[in-house]
Amino acid sequence: MQRIPVAGPWITQREIDYVAQAVGTAWYRSANLFQQRFEAAFAAYIGRRFAIALPSCTSAIHLALLAIGVGGDDEVIVPDATWIATSAPISYVGATPVFADIDRRTWCLSLPSLEQAITPRTRAVLPVNLYGGMPDYDRILEAAARKRIVVIEDAAESVGSLYRGKKAGSFGLASVFSFHGSKTLTTGEGGMLLTDDEALYERCRMLADHGRRKGDRAFWNAEIGQKYKMSSLQAALGLAQLERVDELVARKREIFGWYQSALDRASGITLNAEPDGTTNSVWMVTAVMDAALGWRKEDLADALAADGIDTRPFFYPLSSLPAYADSPQVAVAAKRNLIAYDISPRAINLPSALSLTEDQVGFVCDRLTRLASKKAA
Ligand SMILES: Cc1ncc(COP(=O)(O)O)c(C=O)c1O
Repeated sequence: MQRIPVAGPWITQREIDYVAQAVGTAWYRSANLFQQRFEAAFAAYIGRRFAIALPSCTSAIHLALLAIGVGGDDEVIVPDATWIATSAPISYVGATPVFADIDRRTWCLSLPSLEQAITPRTRAVLPVNLYGGMPDYDRILEAAARKRIVVIEDAAESVGSLYRGKKAGSFGLASVFSFHGSKTLTTGEGGMLLTDDEALYERCRMLADHGRRKGDRAFWNAEIGQKYKMSSLQAALGLAQLERVDELVARKREIFGWYQSALDRASGITLNAEPDGTTNSVWMVTAVMDAALGWRKEDLADALAADGIDTRPFFYPLSSLPAYADSPQVAVAAKRNLIAYDISPRAINLPSALSLTEDQVGFVCDRLTRLASKKAA
């Protein structure tokens, strides 16, 4: 049986040509040219002054926290429903992740919960554009400014999304993207950090290069840093993908449109939201099953897998993971984050690969509708 993939890229001859060009030419004095071109083009696309190409989005978050000087007694707030890559770097720098609830409609950071989670120790917040959805940035930025908290936008999943006409990646002191193989725009593995703040940019550059300052003599390290660098081959792939970004995002939205029309009359299934003033690039089409249907996401995933349909569970609340079992934040989060704990057990990501056909989506919707009505009966 041919499986219907949950995620995957759209690669054309342009990508193959650029990577071949990088393999053939990006050495000696040209060793960094593709990275420079990719950074400049990505910064221009998002509308930010500076961009740094990195090995992953996880490293981008780590670098941002290091450069801002987060550590020690600091707390950093993250939404409870996200991939652990948002919160793990907070522990890398020795700070404490604090888990806030999500909004019932966007599944992104909830403003009232953020406000509740802020303490005198809060240093930063990482709103996440979950599955391409956008949180209410106007109000989050306003609340953060009032409390003097740094905002780092985790835009890993949201290339092509918009909030009030501004691109995902435009918000906060810094923003970060992932180009993992499952993402809309991919470099296989990779990430990008963006900012408009020149001092932060210079510090990130230095920390990403083993603590070497621009212009210093060779092999002269001012600080202990990281080795966070994207290769030319990845940057060449990213550049080719970026030149097609509008087409990639349009295809994601087209796939979402197929789901919307096929599931239009299916009751008990809620898909990704697109509140007024936002555009959702729908990295992952996601279905939340009504509680009354009684589906657990793991059982639903098994039932679909039996028909060759690959899915992913909606992220488990971070505070429910064994990784955080020892954190004193867990008990608070489990009581406070009622929406994350309500939605997560009954939601799954549906096949969203860029290679999908309308027939495949039709098949997935047919199976899903049948499963929904079987439980309802
Ligand atoms: C919300 C979110 N943040 C961060 C990351 C980390 O990205 P990477 O895998 O490139 O380190 C991901 C990746 O899957 C993500 O979904």
